[in-house]
Formats: sequence, structure tokens, C-alpha cells
Amino acid sequence: MNPIPPSRHDVKSPDLEQVSRQLLQSEKMAAIGQLAAGVAHEINNPIGYVASNLRTLVGYVEVMLKIIDQTEQTDSMSELRAVKKRLEYGYIREDVLALMAESEEGIERVKGIIAALRDFSHIDEETFIAADLHHCLDTTLQLMNNELKYRAQVIKAYGKLPPVACMPSQINQVVLNLLTNAVHTLGGDGCITLRTGLAGELAWFEIEDNGKGIPEEHLPRLFEPFFTTKPVGEGTGLGLALSYRIVEKHRGRIEVESQTGQGSRFRVWLPLEQPAAGPTKPQPAEGR
Ligand SMILES: Nc1ncnc2c1ncn2[C@@H]1O[C@H](COP(=O)(O)OP(=O)(O)OP(=O)(O)O)[C@@H](O)[C@H]1O
Ligand SMILES: [Mg+2]
Repeated sequence: MNPIPPSRHDVKSPDLEQVSRQLLQSEKMAAIGQLAAGVAHEINNPIGYVASNLRTLVGYVEVMLKIIDQTEQTDSMSELRAVKKRLEYGYIREDVLALMAESEEGIERVKGIIAALRDFSHIDEETFIAADLHHCLDTTLQLMNNELKYRAQVIKAYGKLPPVACMPSQINQVVLNLLTNAVHTLGGDGCITLRTGLAGELAWFEIEDNGKGIPEEHLPRLFEPFFTTKPVGEGTGLGLALSYRIVEKHRGRIEVESQTGQGSRFRVWLPLEQPAAGPTKPQPAEGR
């Protein structure tokens, strides 16, 4: 008999744990990097037309100033009307309002994207706060819009949810990983459905795709670090492992239902409250 000395495990497992933590950390960074490329594209479009509108508006303002200046130079209303007509005041008057409304909407879109990105930037935050899960889903959808818009129809079937004690940026990360996997599996006529609901003290959200589905023999391995069916260089197999960890930290669980050729459904269950935080937990009056 040659028993393994207990110290061998004691020494090895913290190293493995640390390596795994570092790998998951790099997976988070990679996901954010990928997101940033899409976001840059999403921002570029509104910024482009707002800039172009501004140039047109400068021209319009010059014309309007010319017309106003004209009032200093003539007392004749008919002459003034002729100038207005010549400078196409009627058209400009309408277009100015349309351009300003469009620019305002463009700026709002950029503001929305920046706010969503800010939600992601606290990815290492470790405190539970009462958050709106629908906001987490919408934020992530907004940031992935560039990848989604040409590939899938997105259907939202949200239920009614109270605030959920969670680490919102980390839940965003889970949504991002699930949505990214869903997008990757889609063929033509792609469809992604997001649903939410409440069952007693648990909230859930799920992401369903009508993609390729998962063969039964892969189901038990999905959450293993490095399990991937994607070609080398395309997937590291850490997305679901990271998501599993995050959900585990929330004392929740992930369920998968899938059949080859029928698409997949990933449902994440989260308790409404956490022992160390949450709205009903009284705050200690003094630290110690
Ligand atoms: N929605 C899905 N439809 C079909 N297969 C899926 C789906 N989600 C996950 N899988 C399968 O599970 C594997 C592991 O997923 P995971 O997100 O952990 O890694 P990955 O997507 O391969 O790589 P990474 O997320 O690190 O870029 C995938 O390679 C794929 O085979
Ligand atoms: Mg993945």
C-alpha cells in the first residue's frame, strides 16, 4: 500500500484554486474586451449622425441669422418675405426641429450605452445589493445589440419581480455569457427568448435559443472549466464555469434543458435575499 500523504493534496489544491481564479478573471476580461468592440460600433453610429446633423444645423443657423439681419436693412415686408423664400426658410424651419429631435435621441442612445457599460465596470464588486433583474437583462441586451441585431429576433417575456439581493455586475456577466452562447449557436431565423418569474422566495430568469441544441452526453460537462466544442481560438470553455461560480456565490443554481436540433434553455434561479445583506437584515448600529 502506498497511501498519498494528506499534505500532497493540501499543498496542491490552493494552487489549483488560484490558477482557476486567475483563468476565470481573464475570461471576464476577455468578455469585456469583446463587448467593448461591439459597443464602440454601437456608439459610432449615433455619434456619426449627430455630428452630421450639427454641421447641417450650423448652415441653417447661418441662414436664419441672415434673415434676421435683413430686418435691419429693410422696412419692406414683401422684400423680407422674398428673402425668406429665396433662402428656403419654410424647409429649414421644419428640418431644424427634425434634426434636433434626431440628435437628441442619438445622444440619449449613447448615454444609455455608457450607463450600461458603467454597470459592467464593477465586475469585481463583492457586495449584495437589491437590484432589478430586468435591468440586468436589458443592460446586457443593449450592450450586445451589435451582435444581436442581425442574427436574432429577441423576445422578452418578463414576469413581475421584486428587487433581488445580488451583485448586479456579476449577474450581468452571467447574462452576457448565456446570451453569447445563445447567439453562437443560432442558424438562420435565429430567435432568443428572455423570460423571468418568481417562485416563492426565488426569482428566475432564463434565456432560450432555437439553435443547434446540446447533445445529451455533453450536458453533464457543460460547467466544467475548459469544456468547449468550439474550434481552437474561438472558445475557452470558461463562460459557463464562470457563470456557475457566480450563481453559486449567490446561493442559486442554473438549470439546462436542451435537445439536439431543438435549441437550449438556461434558467438561473436566485434567492431574493442573501444572509449577509438584503433589505430585511437589520444593520448593526456600531461596527465590530
Ligand atoms: N446555448 C447553447 N447552445 C448550444 N451549445 C451550448 C450553449 N451554451 C453552451 N453550449 C455548449 O457548452 C460549451 C461550453 O460553453 P462555455 O460558455 O462554457 O464555453 P465556450 O462558449 O465554448 O467558450 P467561452 O465561453 O469561454 O468563449 C460550448 O462550447 C457549447 O458546446
Ligand atoms: Mg461561452
